[in-house]
Amino acid sequence: MASRESWATRIGFIIAAVGSAVGLGNIWRFPFLTGEAGGAAFLVVYLGLVAVVGLPVLLAELVIGRRSKRNPIGAFDALGKPAWKFIGGLGALAGLIILSYYSVVGGWVIQYIIGSLTGGYVADSEAFFLDVAMGWDTVAFDFVFMAIVAGIVALGIRNGLERAAKVMVPSVIVLLVVLAAYGATLDGASAAYSYYLSPDMEYLTGNFFSILPDAAGQAFFTLSLGMGVMITYASYLGEDRSLLKDSGYIVVIDTAIAFLAGLVVFPFLFTQGIEPGSGGAGAVFISLAAAFAELPAGNLIGAVFFIMLGIAALTSAFSILEVVVSFVIDSTDIERTPATIVIAASIFVIGIPTALDLTYLDLYDKFANNILLILGGMLLSIFVGLVYADGAKAELSEGSPLGASIAPIWVLVSAVVVPVVLAITLYFGVVEYIEFLRESFL
Ligand code: PFF
Repeated sequence: MASRESWATRIGFIIAAVGSAVGLGNIWRFPFLTGEAGGAAFLVVYLGLVAVVGLPVLLAELVIGRRSKRNPIGAFDALGKPAWKFIGGLGALAGLIILSYYSVVGGWVIQYIIGSLTGGYVADSEAFFLDVAMGWDTVAFDFVFMAIVAGIVALGIRNGLERAAKVMVPSVIVLLVVLAAYGATLDGASAAYSYYLSPDMEYLTGNFFSILPDAAGQAFFTLSLGMGVMITYASYLGEDRSLLKDSGYIVVIDTAIAFLAGLVVFPFLFTQGIEPGSGGAGAVFISLAAAFAELPAGNLIGAVFFIMLGIAALTSAFSILEVVVSFVIDSTDIERTPATIVIAASIFVIGIPTALDLTYLDLYDKFANNILLILGGMLLSIFVGLVYADGAKAELSEGSPLGASIAPIWVLVSAVVVPVVLAITLYFGVVEYIEFLRESFL
């Protein structure tokens, strides 16, 4: 077994973790789910879940990773609880499924970069989207995206990616702020803000349980939780850092970027007269492309925007592949490069249906997020709350006096609140998924 690498710089961990968290989840998935589920009502449930469930589970992953210094499957052996290893396996399965379609959407982004430069979406942004999102071209660009991700993973954790993420996160924030400011000047802005920001309480209470699974799945997806990414990243971490502080950075930056994306997308949608939710997975791409088409120097702004989105997607996709590859190289004699090639090729093949038909994309997406990630998060939480509580408390206290004082509350929340909330969520998630299967395939 090769000796374990560690982060090249102190800030390396936080940059990579934020790089993993910030991605298509914030800018593509969050706005379209919000649009489908009634706007502000979704936002409220999502924000609540990030705080009540997302943050404790993020801490659980960081604690498990740093304490064990292992990949998500080996971690449970190292902590003396081998029976819990299957959580790591569950996470790896979720990772395979998520990356298989994540790279498809990554391929869309590449096509949008090209489309910005060539003016491809100027005439009809809706037709352009449908062209981009399904078919053998889509498969080809999925392949290109996957090949780039595999190339980066094959080079190892220290190379290239930290630098890319360092530029990407501030650039994404600046671009979104500029676009949100422009959006504020549009005719549809005030209707958009009331849709996005002022929750209709009657709608919220009436639809709470149908919003819950999507909002919880999104909270996990956007924070890169439930798949062992954060376990893996924290396994390379020294004892001197405060996990509490680091988790705070990750949650705040990630949530702020998603929120900003909503402030950009909804004014554009309302101004163009597109019903929020009607565009489904295409909402963001269609509305932004139409907006760029009208802007002065829009092709340039569009290209810059989609390049940033592409980098954001790469740093996230990288983290998923890295988990699976690090597991294989830690536990077998296989070298990094061949392991990467075989795993990436398999994931590509698994994802082909989602590049040919958006229904499959939904099928994979809902299953991985609303079921597997929720289940994984619930089990992780039970693990730190009930099975490994003393070790977990000790690890959170390491390098952080504040962590030490929060630790008992965190363990209690992990033992009781998180599992109860996620069990309810999982129930509704499964019921809804069965309904979705029936509607789509019967
Ligand atoms: N958090 C990423 C995003 O919001 O785009 C997606 C993601 C990355 C999900 C890594 C899961 C994961 F393990």
